[in-house]
Amino acid sequence: MTTYRNHPEAIQALVQDDRVHRDLYLSEELFALEQERFFANTWLYVGHASQVPAAGDYWSLELAGRPVMMVRQADGSVGVFYNRCAHKGSRLVSDESGNTGKFFRCPYHAWAYKLDGSPLAIPLKSGYEGTRLKECESGRGLVPLAGMRVYRDFVFARIATQGVDFDGYFGEVLKAIDNMVDRSPEGRLTVAGGVLRNVIQCNWKMYLENINDTVHPMSTHESATQAAGALWKDKPADAPKPMAMEQILPFGAGYDFFDKMGGRVFANGHSLLGVNFSIHSGYAQLPEYEAALRKAHGEARADEILQRSPQNSVLFPSLAVKGSPQVIRVMRPLSADRTLIEAWSFRAEGAPDLLLERSMGYNRLVFSPMSVVAHDDVHLFESMQLGLRGEGNDWVSLHRDFDPAELGQETVTTNGTNELLMRNQFRAWARYMQDSPSGAAA
Ligand code: FES
Ligand SMILES: [Fe+2]
Repeated sequence: MTTYRNHPEAIQALVQDDRVHRDLYLSEELFALEQERFFANTWLYVGHASQVPAAGDYWSLELAGRPVMMVRQADGSVGVFYNRCAHKGSRLVSDESGNTGKFFRCPYHAWAYKLDGSPLAIPLKSGYEGTRLKECESGRGLVPLAGMRVYRDFVFARIATQGVDFDGYFGEVLKAIDNMVDRSPEGRLTVAGGVLRNVIQCNWKMYLENINDTVHPMSTHESATQAAGALWKDKPADAPKPMAMEQILPFGAGYDFFDKMGGRVFANGHSLLGVNFSIHSGYAQLPEYEAALRKAHGEARADEILQRSPQNSVLFPSLAVKGSPQVIRVMRPLSADRTLIEAWSFRAEGAPDLLLERSMGYNRLVFSPMSVVAHDDVHLFESMQLGLRGEGNDWVSLHRDFDPAELGQETVTTNGTNELLMRNQFRAWARYMQDSPSGAAA
């Protein structure tokens, strides 16, 4: 029995103006439909071009259940292909990353492909003469993802062959990437310091919501911030803080701080939290770095770059960006109740090493599952996943600051504790769960 597959109205009914149904988090049937529709229709983050610096370098991953690889091609550009041999379907590469040389050769029957995916060689070629191989998909080589775009070295793809174009999908939220990249005096980021991976036993939407949840730090992270506060309380106000202290103490700021930081929603589920300031605004200034930035961008632009310091920007549904410190989180849903979270750090080229230390320090202090912050969140995510199984209340509340006037508006700027930033994600979810999302034609 299927509840949702042939019942689009049942899917739409799960997202109401101010609350969402628990099946959004619990139903494996819905998760399968999400893989088929929602994650195919939206633009997903694949990886960063600096993960494949040299020709022949590849990075393989699963994107919404499909085997995918990002490849540095012979002409220096980045391609994104299905990691699937055109012959019988073996994956071309099974390591996560490596260098394939000048071509890919399938380990099964040695069909070979150039780095741009085109067919290069087939053993016993004469056996194919007079056959229909050339007219078949199998004769055409590797299949690129239908939509692909490299935006300032951030590589995105869309699985569906038709749909919203990249700029129309992301729009203004791309400024989050601009700001992070512009923090490099050379205008270039490279991944550094490895990746932190954490599989959480929860639905992916819980993680996405939490990125915009400004009301939980005071309770969820109370013990960590109180411990840090107790260590620091006797220090003079102007005492220079160790980096970890500088990063952890603002988590204890009150409801008022988080409310006043402000939030903004955009079409398609994207958001900007910390329109006015954020927990990152108080980081110590680095005169040598600022001088390099002024030299590269000019006074006014350098000020603009440094003053913009949002808490989080969500490029819905797979990427969350923190411009300062230069870190991203990548959401990789695995099943209805399992989600892989990756936290990556960047080196801002031309900036002092201290910036990379901040980036890596932040990821380890806040996003690592072993950190004093993330383990509190992970416990709550897994707890909600279990709690939602209870009967008698099928709904998850998103009522805070709901205003009927917000319906139908694309860009809204509001207070930082408004659950609009979460409601906006679910409205986009409902739209992209449709077979052909309304208004999403290329
Ligand atoms: S499956 Fe790849 S060559 Fe046969
Ligand atoms: Fe948290």
